[in-house]
Amino acid sequence: MKFRFEIKARDAAGRIGKLTVNGRTVETPAIMPVINPKQMVVTPAELKEMGFGILITNSYIIYKTPELRERALELGIHRLLDYDGIVEVDSGSFQLMRYGDVDVTNREIIEFQERIGVDVGTFLDIPTPPDAPREKAEEDLRTTLERAREAEEIKNIPMNAAVQGSSYPDLRTRAARKLSEMNFEIHPIGAVVPLMESYRYRDLVDVVIASKLGLRADRPVHLFGAGHPMIFAMAVAMGVDLFDSASYVLYARDDRYMTPEGTKRLEELEYFPCSCPVCSRHTPQELREMPKEERTRLLALHNLWVIREELNRVKQAVREGTLWELVDERARGHPKLFAAYKRLLEYREYLEKNEPVTKPGAFLKVSEEAMRWPTVYRARKRAERVAERFPERINHPVFGEIPKYLSLSYPFAQSEGEEDFTIEKLSGDEVRNYIMAIAEYQFGRGAGEAFKDASVELSRKTGMPRQIKAGGKHLATFRAEDGLLTLGIEGARRLHRVLPFPGMRVVVNEDAEPFARKGKNVFAKFVVDADEGIRPYDEVLVVNEEDELLATGQSLLNGEELKVFRSGLAVKVRRGIGG
Ligand code: GUN
Ligand code: ZN
Repeated sequence: MKFRFEIKARDAAGRIGKLTVNGRTVETPAIMPVINPKQMVVTPAELKEMGFGILITNSYIIYKTPELRERALELGIHRLLDYDGIVEVDSGSFQLMRYGDVDVTNREIIEFQERIGVDVGTFLDIPTPPDAPREKAEEDLRTTLERAREAEEIKNIPMNAAVQGSSYPDLRTRAARKLSEMNFEIHPIGAVVPLMESYRYRDLVDVVIASKLGLRADRPVHLFGAGHPMIFAMAVAMGVDLFDSASYVLYARDDRYMTPEGTKRLEELEYFPCSCPVCSRHTPQELREMPKEERTRLLALHNLWVIREELNRVKQAVREGTLWELVDERARGHPKLFAAYKRLLEYREYLEKNEPVTKPGAFLKVSEEAMRWPTVYRARKRAERVAERFPERINHPVFGEIPKYLSLSYPFAQSEGEEDFTIEKLSGDEVRNYIMAIAEYQFGRGAGEAFKDASVELSRKTGMPRQIKAGGKHLATFRAEDGLLTLGIEGARRLHRVLPFPGMRVVVNEDAEPFARKGKNVFAKFVVDADEGIRPYDEVLVVNEEDELLATGQSLLNGEELKVFRSGLAVKVRRGIGG
């Protein structure tokens, strides 16, 4: 398999993925340090040593430099660079944007990329800068799409297809749709460098979201030219999987020192707020006194360590379900970033579709903005639905009036020990109301019917509901962590009966049926249809094409993704129906 991308975990609209190209694998989000083949301040071998498993270099520079070109054709790009990770190359498009012209055709550069053995190529897209006249943006985009068609015809290697369209959201979305229908592997979002250079992060958000709205969910998305750690958290939260950075060197040459909160000038530093190998061994004063070349190299190394550290922090936040908290914190590092954060939160529908329904930890209101996170938006919307059936309300310390029976469930349930929210003294009827309300909240209108005759065992220790049963059969388990339900077989059967197709269904083909029945996980390539209302980490019903129930489990993907993903896990099956 030449190219493969699968999702492992997620938070906000971000994801941890596994990207495999020609047998080499990196975990995403990942950054590709940019290597200038004519001038390496840090060598590819050193990058590999530091943990960078993918890099990007420029095939146009190699093509235009006779001795490099000869050696690349003779040795191949990996030996030329002395690097055994994944090598991606750009095409000269950036030079096109900077200097208005390049001396190569689309076909020539694609064929050259293939001949030097790159892992991922890039065709010669036209990066139309922000604020270009509409006609110019449309004309450039037409050319980019023509070149995409040419690339598609001749390519034999995985390739980038960059989304262009300047600052016009409709053009970005249209470009993204068109390129998604074609045979490409990665979609960079192009021509955003001018936005980042002038701190126009709010406009960057508009461009990224407009592009994401048109892109296939199963392809990795690269933010072309983005390599400052201060934007990683927000970019990942929007659904960006790949970054590239020339800035680690460019900044170093200007004596600029990266931090996750922003950029410092070396001259303003008395102390290093970092313990990377460079900052542990030197003081800012020592660096200032060094010869330029040595200082540049050390600053470049520091910048790389910070990039690596912040990416790890972002990935850990995804695992912990605290990515929004990190975005919130980072947004406070720069007023323009804060404006971008507020802008991002306006894209409620896009964010809600991708937001997990549950997190490892309780919801904490860390800021006023937190009340506009997609989790809260969804919870309020669903609470209204629940209130139609269960109108009794309580006053919640953070959310205000909420349906009483949702007070134990994510995100309403607050950290343990809040007395208002224990239900020890409830009658059986009232505990049943809780379960029915949670079912309506979690699975949709009418789902409560599946539990109308249920009895609920309370945990003797906590007074919280535990096992939910009816007629001696186990229906579901109330999860103490988030106050939501995990279905048992009988609960899944009942839910399947009360929810009309396609409600909460993941439809698999007949190849997958025996495995699902045995309780084995469902992989994306076997999924043929799904309820578009499914959200990440929902408890779902796995059915065959005749809508016979096969299993129940937790979906890693949302409904839209279930329909398009062809690789990786789709549903972590908890129980199969047997038979
Ligand atoms: N590098 C930075 N921006 C771009 C872009 O829009 N297209 C390509 N090919 N490379 C870039
Ligand atoms: Zn450092």
